[in-house]
Amino acid sequence: MITLNETIEVPRTVEACFRYVADFRTTVEWDATAVKARKVTRGPVGLGSRFALVCRAGPTGIPLMYSIDEFTPWQCLVLTGKSRWFTVKDVITFEPVGHSSTRITYTAHFEYRYGLEAIASRNETALRKMGKASLRGLAKALADDNPSPSALLETKRKDSNLIAALRCFTRYGYSRGRKLWRPMSTDISGKHIVLTGASSGLGYSAAVSLLEAGADLTLIIRDKTKIESMQASLEQATGRCASAVELADLSLLSDVRALADKLHAQAKPIDVLINNAGALFNDFAETQEGIERSVALLLLSPWKLTELLLPLMTGHDATARVINVVSGGMYTQKLKLNQLMMEAEHYKGSVAYARAKRALTVLTELWSEQWREDNIVVNSMHPGWADTPGVQSALPGFRRLTQRVLRSAEEGADTIVWLARASEAGLVSGKLFLDREPRTTHLQSATTESTEERMQLIPWLNRTYENVSTN
Ligand SMILES: NC(=O)c1ccc[n+]([C@@H]2O[C@H](COP(=O)([O-])OP(=O)(O)OC[C@H]3O[C@@H](n4cnc5c(N)ncnc54)[C@H](OP(=O)(O)O)[C@@H]3O)[C@@H](O)[C@H]2O)c1
Repeated sequence: MITLNETIEVPRTVEACFRYVADFRTTVEWDATAVKARKVTRGPVGLGSRFALVCRAGPTGIPLMYSIDEFTPWQCLVLTGKSRWFTVKDVITFEPVGHSSTRITYTAHFEYRYGLEAIASRNETALRKMGKASLRGLAKALADDNPSPSALLETKRKDSNLIAALRCFTRYGYSRGRKLWRPMSTDISGKHIVLTGASSGLGYSAAVSLLEAGADLTLIIRDKTKIESMQASLEQATGRCASAVELADLSLLSDVRALADKLHAQAKPIDVLINNAGALFNDFAETQEGIERSVALLLLSPWKLTELLLPLMTGHDATARVINVVSGGMYTQKLKLNQLMMEAEHYKGSVAYARAKRALTVLTELWSEQWREDNIVVNSMHPGWADTPGVQSALPGFRRLTQRVLRSAEEGADTIVWLARASEAGLVSGKLFLDREPRTTHLQSATTESTEERMQLIPWLNRTYENVSTN
């Protein structure tokens, strides 16, 4: 048997450290030997949770199945990892040091099979080095001091080549991106996050991850009959539910106002607002309020909801965040206010959708300038191409063609979660993100809007809103 024993002290509370380490998926963020990690069991992390890991070794790596054998919150975790060649028992203890630091003692006992003990002991020095490096990695991850996000040179190069940029929309873009990510150990327990469009696709996936990270969620959906099943499925996946679910048809400005009134009546400060609800409408239709529905749902609604909720986001200590979910489709369109509201005879769903998303991207930049002094950061993100019910129903042909390279909903939602959670994401404003990296907002110079057009966007939104309200 070989035993490794390392101790680190980190400037984080025992609760934060325990929560981060207990979710053993995080090993890929701090253990240099872990290549892949996924949670196999459903439900919250706890006694009996199992994780499938692949550790670096040889051409294919060593698969290991870990299970949590002891789970004493804020004090001790015992995990057993089994592979074909060895079993490892990890005993991890957490001890508060002063007010907000923690001493973590990590002991790993390796037991080898098939007489491999002799080979293992020849590699003991290397194993000890790896153990030390992993604990240094854990200390770094828990320090949660990542630098402000910026795009790599290689990413900028990709963004200057249309094919390379489009390839980043696929799951290859996601797997390339994730190799470069820094750990995300920020504890968002109790942070109040308002998320629209949570009943399906990216919104639902984001809700799962945010609940797992401890957030206090208010979910906005439009269909009353989905509340129960959505909450049940969130609870089954994470052991927690959203603390509130509000109903609103976000294509109606009257519903947006009513929703904002309700949230104001609750007077609960909002830490993060995620404008995610959306749809691509292949057929032309106007809402009951007489607005073409792509513009209503994808632009007027997030604009008005955000404006109305601003008082709940300002005035508290932490920086509030607004996240606008846009689309790579907007790269095809230029902001032209007189073309935003498409008429029935020229209507094309993908164009109306892309124009509204382009306008929301520009609005994100305008807001970031406006709110510079207000302790609110606002960023947009696009998820690439993700296989969600929305894509399945609106773009069946596109889905058939691209199915093999589409991301999963979880992969598409990752940057929403990162923008809501990661400390460093609070240091930037007015940017467009894909896979946790700021990206260009134009793939072709022909889509760059004039300063005049840009400056007219907010007055245009106000005028359109007033027309609806007075009709
Ligand atoms: N998936 C992609 O590849 C992709 C790419 C680019 C951008 N996006 C954007 O990502 C966001 C999420 O899309 P998704 O792919 O996850 O689609 P989805 O699976 O259809 O989810 C869309 C969500 O928005 C809700 N929603 C739609 N219309 C609404 C309304 N009038 N009022 C309130 N809620 C409404 C839906 O509610 P119901 O369940 O009741 O329908 C659902 O919860 C959208 O903004 C979309 O434009 C997605």
